[in-house]
Amino acid sequence: MRRTKIVDILNEEKKGEELLVKGWVRTRRGNKQINFIAVNDGSVIHNLQVVADVEKIGEELLRRVTTGAALAVKGELRESEGKGQSMELLASEIEVIGDCDPNLFPLQPKKHSLEFLRENAHLRFRTNTFSAIARIRHAMIFAVHKFFTDNGFVNIHTPIITSSDAEGAGEMFQVTTLDLKNTPKDDNGAIDFSKDFFGRAANLTVSGQLEGELAAMGLADIYTFGPTFRAENSNTTRHLAEFWMIEPEMAFYDLNDNMDLAERFLKYLISYVLENCTDDLGFLSQRLKDEEKNRKADERSMDLIEKLKFVLSDDFVRITYSEAIEILRNSKPNKKGKFSYKIEGFGADLQSEHERFLVEKHFKKPVILTDYPKDIKAFYMKLNEDNKTVRAMDVLFPQIGEIIGGSQREESYDKLVERMDEMYIPKEEMWWYLDTRKFGAVPHSGFGLGFERMIQFVTGMGNIRDVIPFPRTPKSAEF
Ligand code: 4AD
Ligand code: MG
Repeated sequence: MRRTKIVDILNEEKKGEELLVKGWVRTRRGNKQINFIAVNDGSVIHNLQVVADVEKIGEELLRRVTTGAALAVKGELRESEGKGQSMELLASEIEVIGDCDPNLFPLQPKKHSLEFLRENAHLRFRTNTFSAIARIRHAMIFAVHKFFTDNGFVNIHTPIITSSDAEGAGEMFQVTTLDLKNTPKDDNGAIDFSKDFFGRAANLTVSGQLEGELAAMGLADIYTFGPTFRAENSNTTRHLAEFWMIEPEMAFYDLNDNMDLAERFLKYLISYVLENCTDDLGFLSQRLKDEEKNRKADERSMDLIEKLKFVLSDDFVRITYSEAIEILRNSKPNKKGKFSYKIEGFGADLQSEHERFLVEKHFKKPVILTDYPKDIKAFYMKLNEDNKTVRAMDVLFPQIGEIIGGSQREESYDKLVERMDEMYIPKEEMWWYLDTRKFGAVPHSGFGLGFERMIQFVTGMGNIRDVIPFPRTPKSAEF
């Protein structure tokens, strides 16, 4: 008999059919005559209730039906008389495929803290919260590819190992096969990377953008969706050392086109999840409500689903960095010294507290900030006529702060070289990047969406470590 997934049982009319279901036991309860077993197979948030006649199935076997055990159950699907489910499987046969010792299994049928589950990341796919997040993550991956495919973009695999530092920030993991205890030295006593695997120093990429730009200079509209690595020592709820980024790059786009695409893209992803992940979102929304039930009414956050719909309903606010600085400088928290970093004026790098103030308190909707000071942005951003600011854009979201960073790119060879010199970016190694400014250069733009931050927003999860299966953060690369 073929196995039927629980999601299909709940979606299709299968009443009266003989079915085979395989999954893991969430709970078992009952009495001497009858047992109710909640089985989950990962296909959907809901469990299937299996009804077992103790005499028929056997007491001895049912004793092995403990939380975490894996089962195969044959039986007839019938309408349920009990509360909480419409259908149930009346078991004719139960096989325990994998036993699970309840005294050793870390997951009990109760609510565990997210910290505890992080320490047991190898098992957390068995929980409602993490299986819901994993399914939403999958739906979002699919939606990303669908959006760009429908809009005529070509997906490009950019390298994971590179020798350039795309952001010029220098927060990179080195890749080497040299024996670290006995490194070859050059005449100056420095490590001789010409003896290394690639004949030069290499790193894990921080962004696929530079290679993406090369592709856009022929294919016009491209996007990358790959892992990126940053060795920054930020232990926050929004930073990972290994995260996934989506980076579209478009020829003939100026900054306004870029903002339009970013807004349309974000709204598409949100609507996709609202339409296709109803049950998982419903579960996560209830989870947040339960978490906040002890808070005062006015301190509770907006319902998750309402929040997602809310983002869809309005245009994002678009203002310049300079305008934002004025708002922040004159804001109550700034005057009262409530920000950890006081805003004095133009030039300040915005912290997430400032971004969130603009979005959550001042405008109460997503904000796109443009035209940042050139000194706090990457070398490749197009310089404005004022010579002070660049055509950068950051999209700021409630709860998250910066979710997208992007810009129009500098297409003038001379200006780009000047910026590289000013910022000590080695030009020789980047000859291939500079070549695109020599041969048929065109205005072009792009941005990067942090995939995990987007999932945090959509799932309402406070900590980025809970929206990626195996988080990598400073001092932590278990599993
Ligand atoms: O703003 P960032 O650094 O921009 C770039 O890397 C550009 N090359 C993108 C481009 O124009 N093609 O990073 C883009 C986004 C951020 O807005 C944030 O959402 C996310 O990536 N991000 C991180 N997410 C998790 N952990 C980290 N350490 C992150 N650093 C950036
Ligand atoms: Mg950024």
